[in-house]
Amino acid sequence: MSNVGQPQPHESARGHVTGEALYTNDLLNRFPGVLHAWPVMSPHAHATVTAIDVIPALTIPGVIATLTEAPGEADSGPNRHDEPLFPTEILFYSQPVVWVLAETLEAARLGAAAVNVTYNQLPALVTLDDAIAADSLHSPPLRMNRGDATEAIAACTHKLTGELRIGGQEHFYLETQCALAWLDESGGVSLHCSTQHPSETQEIVARVLGWPKNRVIVECLRMGGAFGGKEVQANCWAAVAALGALKTGRPVSVRLPRKLDMILTGKRHPFLAKFEAGFSSQGKIEAAKMSLYADAGWSLDLSEPIVWRAMFHADNCYNIPAIDLTGYVVKTHKTSQTAFRGFGGPQGMLVIEDIADRIARTLGLAPEVVRERNFYREGDVTHYGQPVKDAARISRIWAELKESSEFAARRTAISDFNSRHRHTKRGIAITSVKFGISFTATMFNQAGAMVLIYRDGSVQVNHGGTEMGQGLQTKIRQIAADGLGVEASAIRLMPTRTDKVPNTSATAASAGSDLNGAAVLDACRKLQSALTTVAVELLKCATVKFENGEVHGDNGAVIAFAKLVESAYRQRLPLFASGYYRTPEIHYDPATGQGRPFFYYAYGAAVSEVELDGFTGAMRLRRVDILEDCGQSLSPLVDRGQIEGGFIQGAGWLTLEELVWDAKGRLATNSASTYKLPSWAELPEVFNVKMLERAAEPGVVFGSKAVGEPPLMLAISVREAIRDAIAAFGAPRLIEIDSPATPERIYFAIERIRN
Ligand code: MTE
Ligand code: HPA
Ligand code: CA
Repeated sequence: MSNVGQPQPHESARGHVTGEALYTNDLLNRFPGVLHAWPVMSPHAHATVTAIDVIPALTIPGVIATLTEAPGEADSGPNRHDEPLFPTEILFYSQPVVWVLAETLEAARLGAAAVNVTYNQLPALVTLDDAIAADSLHSPPLRMNRGDATEAIAACTHKLTGELRIGGQEHFYLETQCALAWLDESGGVSLHCSTQHPSETQEIVARVLGWPKNRVIVECLRMGGAFGGKEVQANCWAAVAALGALKTGRPVSVRLPRKLDMILTGKRHPFLAKFEAGFSSQGKIEAAKMSLYADAGWSLDLSEPIVWRAMFHADNCYNIPAIDLTGYVVKTHKTSQTAFRGFGGPQGMLVIEDIADRIARTLGLAPEVVRERNFYREGDVTHYGQPVKDAARISRIWAELKESSEFAARRTAISDFNSRHRHTKRGIAITSVKFGISFTATMFNQAGAMVLIYRDGSVQVNHGGTEMGQGLQTKIRQIAADGLGVEASAIRLMPTRTDKVPNTSATAASAGSDLNGAAVLDACRKLQSALTTVAVELLKCATVKFENGEVHGDNGAVIAFAKLVESAYRQRLPLFASGYYRTPEIHYDPATGQGRPFFYYAYGAAVSEVELDGFTGAMRLRRVDILEDCGQSLSPLVDRGQIEGGFIQGAGWLTLEELVWDAKGRLATNSASTYKLPSWAELPEVFNVKMLERAAEPGVVFGSKAVGEPPLMLAISVREAIRDAIAAFGAPRLIEIDSPATPERIYFAIERIRN
């Protein structure tokens, strides 16, 4: 193999930095007469719409049309149809009510401002607490349990109860939501769309137009980041663009400027966790009970599977004999919170890591000792009945990382530093991650591909995955090159299109390369096997080897791949093949809360060291060491980027990024000036990233493991290091701090510990 496993740069790296890589909005100038869309937005978080007058908008120069209805079903809700495009009841502040189409964006804005909408304002449930008190839920509580946790806690020597508030997170993909639709020449609608899920975008557009899906084509060239924010929330903009194209006969672009993107689209779910735990004097967790309340916002979106995933990860790496979990999908009058890297997993893990630290501080043990004592061991089974395959890997990674990060020596050095500094304290923490890989809805774990070889030996690869910067296309190119035995340069990756591969799943759950890579490999193997028959005959040999664009017979004879392809063509053999993959062995029954939802687990661990300023609460991330299990990495440079990027995104969520909604339900943090993102200054001063060696994963494409989401949760080590440093400011006691651990929260936590 000459491609898979090599440190290739991202296939668009050059294009990303030169600006040559195109995004949906860059295609606008190829569509003469394109119209721009702007929404009329509600000034209330909860209201009924009593009257709409669009006539004044039509008097604004440049305004061409308004959109107030659809020929099909005017709803873009992905599962439950609960997202009306033209709502009569407003469910969040700034919800679009009507859309205006115009020759320019400015005219569309002026047109939207001229539309008169009359509202009847209703009381709104803006905060999670108010909504919980009002019993406002999208669906009945979700439950998962093992044993009798209540009884087990009662029988324990030590018990604790507590609460943790966990903030949400804005995706802040650099490319905001964008869709471009036009009537195509054969009686359908085609779209360019920044979507992680072209097949679902196609489905929603078809639903809204009242058409069969075969009249809608969705293409995604690439996304300028998505992070889960375009898994279902790309659909409604596409639907509006398609409706506009149908109504006017002209191409229509919907592109959200940053502020609109921030106020209209969903975020990572804020959570409130209430918990109880029972534990031994050695720090062994015997039982835990958790109520996880997720602030889901106005519509259901993906909130149910997100809360399930939080519950699947409430154990993290720990074997908890009795556990009782209840998940609440709480309905509030806010943006509809959605998928975000980790998909509930981070919130679930944060709760158990918070508990682990509380147990350690209660018993006067080091937190890493408590963590270690609770690890899953080989043969253990999770609370949902899945054996923890490779549980030994948790301890192996932990031991290797403790060693390479010089954890023990640094603990001593930090104690020494802290004894000499009254107002500056350092802290260190090691935490680990066990993240389940597969969609928990089993049916989504399938993928298709279509590989075309042309007579000159050049190749086009189509598959259902989308590129959002994660390097999927780089990996697929490596897989296809080795799968066919050609040079990577012979392979062209085609933009994802619903007319090439149908019924695809979202590129999500970190499974993009596992699923699509395996489907592409399947197609390549079919082609190679057909070509082998031709080659063996031509070269007069018994077996052949395909390598770097040449085909070598076992008798020493060689033929160029392109020549072999031409021969196959002349023999009238098909030079294209479809590929398919479905993840084996997985199953899960939500009714019983039991099964094997995940094909495997991705593991990792991180050590973070921080320094806190007692006067301001300011935090410095002094050093981070990561050891991540990527299996046998398909593409080490890409994976390193994923580990670093995921970790920093997680650190931003846990320490900087704070979403604030005011009492009216308006998002107050609606731009980069009020929403603090991690930047160069917040990078760790020392950042050591390693991938676990000798870690090939059987049954996954080329022995690799998924890497897109798991490293985000390694950032929990930063939060735990902060708690460790806070503890150093006072006498031993519990460190209670909500998330994110912003300088303000750190400052007040220090004040509490000092007194
Ligand atoms: N990396 C970049 N650069 N941009 C992104 O939007 N999304 C993340 C992760 N890494 C993302 C990213 C998320 S949320 C997921 S689920 C995976 O990539 C999806 O891609 P994969 O399944 O191919 O890893
Ligand atoms: N991440 C994890 N699990 C998922 C996702 C995701 O983005 N989407 C559906 N299941
Ligand atoms: Ca968003």
